[in-house]
Amino acid sequence: EKGTYPHFMLKEIDEQPFVIRNIITKYKDDDDNIKLEESIRQTVADADRIYIIAAGTSYHSGLVGKEMIEKIANIPVETHIASEFLYNMPLLSKKPLFIFISQSGETADLRGVLVNVKKLGHPSLTITNVPGSTLSREADFTLHTYGGPEIAVASTKAYTAQMAVMVILAVDAARARGVEIDFDPLQELGIVANAMEIFTNQKEVLEEVARDYLSVSRNCFFIGRSMDYYVCLEGALKLKEISYIQAEGFAGGELKHGTIALIEEGTPVIGLATQSDVNLNIRGNMKEVVARGAYPCFISMEGCEHEEDKIVMPAVHKFLTPLVSVLPMQLIAYYAALHRGCDVDKPRNLAKSVTVE
Ligand code: M6R
Repeated sequence: EKGTYPHFMLKEIDEQPFVIRNIITKYKDDDDNIKLEESIRQTVADADRIYIIAAGTSYHSGLVGKEMIEKIANIPVETHIASEFLYNMPLLSKKPLFIFISQSGETADLRGVLVNVKKLGHPSLTITNVPGSTLSREADFTLHTYGGPEIAVASTKAYTAQMAVMVILAVDAARARGVEIDFDPLQELGIVANAMEIFTNQKEVLEEVARDYLSVSRNCFFIGRSMDYYVCLEGALKLKEISYIQAEGFAGGELKHGTIALIEEGTPVIGLATQSDVNLNIRGNMKEVVARGAYPCFISMEGCEHEEDKIVMPAVHKFLTPLVSVLPMQLIAYYAALHRGCDVDKPRNLAKSVTVE
């Protein structure tokens, strides 16, 4: 039920801090340690390479998951678009583990890959919001994202929940492999939940950005580097699917290799700057587009902030920035769609779960 909310999407955006707190509770044991099945821990820790398979928004969380697992647990990871992997499989490692990320657990492209993987005898784990779903039943293991039903076609809380589960998984695997970890993911997720609340309580500024930048624009660019780049891909997808504005998420440094030709007087460019090691680089990329007439909107995080920034998020752990920085993206898309009179919860041409190939 929507309750007092005008749309499911807005309700689901607002639910994100609660979902994260729920995940913390579900994945915590009585001694405040990570609670995860031993068989899952061992399977992840034993893999010599992990293949993450997903589509759409779940693919974008898989890109972040790759960073988390590689950097925290020191296991090589490849993230693939399911429909591509299905017909163009790369060479596999000797001991692969397949992780399927799917809100619905019903996406046909992923199911096709899972069927092939099972024929090859490789282990599989599904991360899903629907534990009884096809992908959950057919994979060897399941991790539940505990997001509660997601009704709006545009996925929001499932995305942040998937990444929260992946950071827990990464730390657990790291410990099983004897890698020293200097942070407690459950505690850090608590900080994330608080940071998320800042946005859910202060939506006016994002409504203003949407009105100012997007109520009449034909296109929009989102640029970022490293983790921020992945969030930009998600920001662009959200905007495209519900507001029908042509949007592109781009790696800041890649623009000058062609796409900068599209920047005209007044083209909105949203620059995401939450990564301290590339902060000056992305600022430089924003200068390049501004010099060509772009209308810039800077979104940053404490520790990376500059005077020009429209929105500064509270600081969170470096592996968890996407869980917070996606909220302004979701809200900008929501308000842009609203201003343009679009059907926010049921955008044209789309279905909530894509059960055909
Ligand atoms: O249920 P799934 O996570 O497998 O769905 C994958 C995509 O179809 C889904 O994320 C889609 O991209 C959303 N509409 C994005 O908001």
